[in-house]
Amino acid sequence: MILATLCIFLPAVACSAALVNRTIDDLYGDSSTGFIPTYLPPGNAWKNGSTCTICNIYPAYLGHYPATSGGGVAVDISQVFDTTWHDALFHPGQQPPSFIVRFSGQAVYVFNTIANVVAKTTTATNLVFTLDGAAVGYYEHIPDPNGPELIYQVPVYVNESLRDGNHTLVVSAQNTTTQSVILFDYIIYTVVDALVEGTTSACFTDQTSNF
Ligand SMILES: *[C@@H]1O[C@H](CO)[C@@H](O)[C@H](O)[C@H]1NC(C)=O
Ligand SMILES: *[C@@H]1O[C@H](CO)[C@@H](O)[C@H](O)[C@H]1NC(C)=O
Ligand SMILES: *[C@@H]1O[C@H](CO)[C@@H](O)[C@H](O)[C@H]1NC(C)=O
Ligand SMILES: *[C@@H]1O[C@H](CO)[C@@H](O)[C@H](O)[C@H]1NC(C)=O
Ligand SMILES: *[C@@H]1O[C@H](CO)[C@@H](O)[C@H](O)[C@H]1NC(C)=O
Repeated sequence: MILATLCIFLPAVACSAALVNRTIDDLYGDSSTGFIPTYLPPGNAWKNGSTCTICNIYPAYLGHYPATSGGGVAVDISQVFDTTWHDALFHPGQQPPSFIVRFSGQAVYVFNTIANVVAKTTTATNLVFTLDGAAVGYYEHIPDPNGPELIYQVPVYVNESLRDGNHTLVVSAQNTTTQSVILFDYIIYTVVDALVEGTTSACFTDQTSNF
């Protein structure tokens, strides 16, 4: 109720504070803060999808090696953000691959490429989302034999009710008994416009909540 009280004492114009979306690309990171995602474990668990010629989910313009393997699917890079993505496979019994992003904001959206049935390729998706140390969500996709081989820019985690401020989000493969894949594309997070940030953010929070 402190927020509601604050709002009453702010001029009406303060309540129109703009919300702005920022993007964290999997490879180029956050152009506003310079932050680049951290990928774990270190080593070769993760691949830059857009330059990977040994990945079964490969960039169309580079082709797939060996081309005769008969498996895999070409990615239309015009349909992924900034033409880049990160690819990792989870193998049961090994450390689940994960990535970490840090941002300050009040909403977050995680976008991945999702795969359906692809010849000779692991395409199940099983993700767990940990925000500021607490598990807050899961995402599972069972490959659909009748669906398109790839679905681009799927929101796999959305949180529009973050406490405004600094957050650490960890996206990890779930430690299951079957193989799965992560095809991370980008993250969007929402900040209160810097020009009006400060007292107005509390006001805006009140304007958009349900009480
Ligand atoms: C930010 O992006 C998300 C996901 O595309 C969208 O739902 C939301 O409306 C956007 N918010 C703003 C303030 O543009
Ligand atoms: C992806 O490419 C970037 C830039 O070339 C490089 O710094 C990074 O190490 C690469 N990541 C992986 C997992 O190969
Ligand atoms: C994954 O699950 C197995 C079986 O429950 C467990 O033995 C193992 O410690 C787990 N590994 C991690 C990294 O959580
Ligand atoms: C959103 O984040 C808050 C913490 O800031 C958490 O309490 C809440 O459960 C999250 N909601 C969703 C849908 O993950
Ligand atoms: C958020 O993190 C930034 C950069 O690490 C720091 O400068 C800032 O003080 C932090 N803000 C809060 C509210 O903790």
